[in-house]
Amino acid sequence: MNAIDPGAIDIFSPYRLGPLQMKNRMVMAPLTRSRAEPGNLPSNMAAEYYSQRAGAGLIITEATQAGAGGQGYIATPGIHSQQQVAAWRKVTGAVHQRGGLVFVQLWHVGRISHPDFRNGEAPVAPSAIAPRGVQTYTAQGLKDIPTPRALEKDEIAAIVGEFRAAAANAKSAGFDGVEIHGANGYLLDQFLEDGTNQRSDDYGGSIENRARLLFEVIAQASQVLGSDRVGVRLSPGGTFNDMCESHPHDTFGYVVRQLSTLNLAYLHLIEPSSTPGEHPLPDLSARYFRPLYPGTLIVAGGYNHERANAVLKAGLADLVAFGQPFLANPDLPERLRRGAALNAPNPATYYGGGAEGYIDYPTLAQAAS
Ligand SMILES: Cc1cc2nc3c(=O)[nH]c(=O)nc-3n(C[C@H](O)[C@H](O)[C@H](O)COP(=O)(O)O)c2cc1C
Repeated sequence: MNAIDPGAIDIFSPYRLGPLQMKNRMVMAPLTRSRAEPGNLPSNMAAEYYSQRAGAGLIITEATQAGAGGQGYIATPGIHSQQQVAAWRKVTGAVHQRGGLVFVQLWHVGRISHPDFRNGEAPVAPSAIAPRGVQTYTAQGLKDIPTPRALEKDEIAAIVGEFRAAAANAKSAGFDGVEIHGANGYLLDQFLEDGTNQRSDDYGGSIENRARLLFEVIAQASQVLGSDRVGVRLSPGGTFNDMCESHPHDTFGYVVRQLSTLNLAYLHLIEPSSTPGEHPLPDLSARYFRPLYPGTLIVAGGYNHERANAVLKAGLADLVAFGQPFLANPDLPERLRRGAALNAPNPATYYGGGAEGYIDYPTLAQAAS
């Protein structure tokens, strides 16, 4: 938290993020777009897409595989091969050239995968519990997700190693930092929550054990990059991907308190009331977590100009992430500054396809010409 009266700040106020200077408090939320090229390489279009959005104070990329085994959807990029690192370098170069900052979001999908992505082998997870009613996009379209296999301990250690290598690759690709994807029912969240983690070794049972993998990954990334270039995303109380935790306040309260001791770049919370169809759990919002986390807090989920300013002025968050508004408005900060109308996002072009719905949303200047 930067030490000024929160009442005086708004989304356009600059912010000091550890070693980095943000020009405003608007973050582009991580958005999977499923347009990676063969080899799971970010494309030249990705460089254009992200650099168009360099007016954000900070861009967080789409979720990106730390290791080859962590993929769960078609055409999501990786950062585990040297070709991928070279392709990402074009993205970071283009964003920096336009004065932006960019973190890469690192994930392993865990059970939210399909044998098509794993050389015919079953997905892996803390425990052999299938997500009910969840499908994934493969090269042959939507497919049901089979029951995963529980990870062996040596495999867990290998995954921690993949995150470390991915952090080193992120540095070499020119990223300003990494965000560890601990949200939305993917591997690290699957370990945290008791609905998906029924292990009896030191990665299961107590909350300290269930959080062990997340903290090992953070420690490795921090060793490589410095903790002030490592952010973490969590979705306390979220039910996306068939997640369920019987004591969300205790579990996430513990995790957030521990995170607050690590001098991280930030903690990024998806508030549970923000996902359509979910029951709002008001006390799992930033209001609950802010007192537990004095460091930089980002909130996400359904924010517009007014709500974003309100949460900043109340001192409940330091930064606000915008997902769909940034997807459809490359010049979102400029539009909000001017009180201009926003382009509406088109969900039909969220995932897959080409330039349409990706790099062709007009700026204000383009719309006027
Ligand atoms: C098309 C799409 C892709 C998304 N991909 C990711 C992702 O890769 N990683 C992640 O943590 N969240 C992802 N999310 C969630 C967003 O980051 C964000 O939390 C959500 O859209 C709510 O914010 P909004 O109301 O401003 O859009 C995605 C959301 C959408 C709509």
